[in-house]
Amino acid sequence: MRKQIAAANWKMNLTITEAETLLDAVLGGTAEVSENQKVVFAVPAPYLALAAQKVAGKNNTFVAAQNIYPKKSGAFTGEISATIIKSIGVEHAVVGHSERREYFNESNQFLAEKVKMCLQENIVPIFCCGEALPVRETNQQNSFVQTQLQESLFDLSADEIQQVVIAYEPIWAIGTGKTASSDQAQEMHAHIRSQLAAKYGAEVANNVSILYGGSVKASNAKEIFGKPDVDGGLVGGASLIAEEFVAIIKALKS
Ligand code: PGA
Repeated sequence: MRKQIAAANWKMNLTITEAETLLDAVLGGTAEVSENQKVVFAVPAPYLALAAQKVAGKNNTFVAAQNIYPKKSGAFTGEISATIIKSIGVEHAVVGHSERREYFNESNQFLAEKVKMCLQENIVPIFCCGEALPVRETNQQNSFVQTQLQESLFDLSADEIQQVVIAYEPIWAIGTGKTASSDQAQEMHAHIRSQLAAKYGAEVANNVSILYGGSVKASNAKEIFGKPDVDGGLVGGASLIAEEFVAIIKALKS
């Protein structure tokens, strides 16, 4: 059965003291995370080891890198590999966040390499997709996201795709306070799942967690996560406030 997941994306925020305080507050405020749920903290790279130590021993709670480079090692100054994060106990990585696509020109093909490298190193990739406003305004969001999936994920085997978590994040809803309605989220999630089913069959499609991201907060999480094809959220701004993120974790389907 696919997992229900609350993933915090801290982006480039917080000092180490603030990071430690926030982690302690969220971990302290969160009761047992059940077997079919997961909590993930995507923290800035310098805090990965600390966060991994803090979540060790907490059930179903994990740490994610916000990015990896798709080589095992070598002369790539400033980058970190899946192998490196694995060696410090990190088991997840965000791949293809829209900010990376936009500011660092990451293409669907390059992201396909990152996903492959994650899987090779037993790292769960949290693969982000989603359209910008002009695409939505011209009603091309379904084909746009379909191309992202095809070019980055659909070379994977049926076994591999079931290791991937997909996060649908409409760019117009990220950090804008403008959330997609729960119906808009459900519609796209159902579309993504139908694409997975067409390629890999319904059983495989049903095993893939699809998260929604874009201005998720405590006040709207329950309604969005309540939709049948929404398996939790990737949360930016609201994940920086302990009470907000604790409430978002509680809003996951049990
Ligand atoms: P937001 O960010 O929750 O601040 O909109 C979500 C994301 O970018 O992952």
